[in-house]
Amino acid sequence: MKRIFLTGASAGIGRAIAQALSERGYEVWGTSRDIQRIPVLPRVHPVQLDLTNNTSIDTAFRNALSEAGHFDVVINNAGSGHFGPAASLPAEILTEQFQVLVFGQIRLLQLAFESMRTRDHGLIVNVTSLASRLPVPYMSAYNAAKSALAMFTMTMQLELGDSRVRIVDLQPADISTDFNDRVARSGSDDARVAKTWTAVEKNMKNAPPPALVARRVCALIDNDNPPRRVTVGDAFQAGIAPFIFRFLPQRLRLWGLRKYYGI
Ligand SMILES: NC(=O)c1ccc[n+]([C@@H]2O[C@H](COP(=O)([O-])OP(=O)(O)OC[C@H]3O[C@@H](n4cnc5c(N)ncnc54)[C@H](OP(=O)(O)O)[C@@H]3O)[C@@H](O)[C@H]2O)c1
Repeated sequence: MKRIFLTGASAGIGRAIAQALSERGYEVWGTSRDIQRIPVLPRVHPVQLDLTNNTSIDTAFRNALSEAGHFDVVINNAGSGHFGPAASLPAEILTEQFQVLVFGQIRLLQLAFESMRTRDHGLIVNVTSLASRLPVPYMSAYNAAKSALAMFTMTMQLELGDSRVRIVDLQPADISTDFNDRVARSGSDDARVAKTWTAVEKNMKNAPPPALVARRVCALIDNDNPPRRVTVGDAFQAGIAPFIFRFLPQRLRLWGLRKYYGI
């Protein structure tokens, strides 16, 4: 039976993934900063993990690994966001976003890879974002951090050679979770910032449910040779927009994104 380590199992996408994996009979070590928030589900083992603290990351993974024996799959899903103008972005917000979305994730990715390399088998899924390619206005730290993790993932894929450890970059478009309720915000008295937030909130409300991402994760687990980058979301955001975006000059990309967010 598969053994899976999943970060951010307490809410949104991670919670939906935990539920789907539990229903499949897998053993899941699911994390939260507060284990009380992890849903009580068959075969889901709560693990305390805080991505802002490297010791917490090491301890959480190593303890779970010694309980599990090995992991077949590690899913780096946990994350948070900040919303506010790039020009006045406080340095501590930038540092925090990169710790949570890049440095902490890379630490876990390296621990996961090291544990899988000896068995020459395993799947690591890094949940980045479509925002790594199509940035959301006023989410500069988040967009930049997701791009950094996507590029780190691609570089590691390049270096894997004939290893049978697979690493996948999973890029959700808007998925309807409570993510925005937890987004720290600054500069909302600016009309353009406020207008963008209204559009971001509307997109999130109309987005597909997190079960869609959970189904895609299950399909990746079932696939011995999974696609290396997967986009999940509604047809426009996850399919049409990124396809068109590829061929546009930067000026037109910026125009299109401004139109999309109404600014
Ligand atoms: N929803 C979307 O539209 C969307 C789109 C693209 C990408 N994503 C990405 O998908 C992932 C999940 O997002 P979501 O929408 O499910 O968000 P969510 O509902 O806010 O859940 C976030 C999860 O991350 C955990 N988390 C947050 N900060 C953490 C930290 N410092 N250390 C450890 N765990 C932390 C939370 O756990 P606790 O608070 O219990 O610790 C929670 O389980 C994120 O990486 C996000 O960037 C989401």
